[in-house]
Amino acid sequence: MSVSPLLKLALKAGALSLVGALIVAISGCSRNSSSPSASQNQAANTTASVSKSTTIVGTPEKGKQLFADNCTTCHGTQGQGVSHLGADLQTSRFVASSTDAQLVAFIEQGRSADDPVNTMHVAMPPKGGNPALTTQNLYDIVAFIRQIQKTHAEGR
Ligand code: HEC
Repeated sequence: MSVSPLLKLALKAGALSLVGALIVAISGCSRNSSSPSASQNQAANTTASVSKSTTIVGTPEKGKQLFADNCTTCHGTQGQGVSHLGADLQTSRFVASSTDAQLVAFIEQGRSADDPVNTMHVAMPPKGGNPALTTQNLYDIVAFIRQIQKTHAEGR
């Protein structure tokens, strides 16, 4: 049986397009199989960024006690400040213009006496000198400092 060259060509083309279709199908499959994991990754990333940006909520009532235990020596019982020891937190513009996270970062780090931005030339020790304070503790303290400023602003 003799196959005409034209038919041979057509068969070849058919086979080629079949191979082509297979490649498309395979790559399509692999794309499909990889896409769930890609979207899982994306979901994981989203979760991570959400948990990172989730704000820790401070409780002023807890912060009050923590402030009394760790900060009043230098900042006074009402956060009014103690000369040559600690800044006035009632009217501090730095406090008013900072976010909770910024204040927590500041308290965590403290400020050395020779820091050029130190206005009192007295050191603020990291965490007020109590390394045991947790991040949650610091948010509680910041919530209490917010209350101090609010109370002061309202003239109470
Ligand atoms: C040993 C004394 C000391 C202790 C304890 C201390 N601080 Fe301070 N704090 C300072 C001094 C001094 C400054 C002012 C630094 C400056 O002038 O830059 C300051 C500044 C601050 C400021 C910034 C105020 C501003 O306007 O710049 C905040 C907020 C603050 N302290 C919070 C706290 C908290 C909260 C605690 C307790 C966990 C604490 N401090 C414990 C000495 C202290």
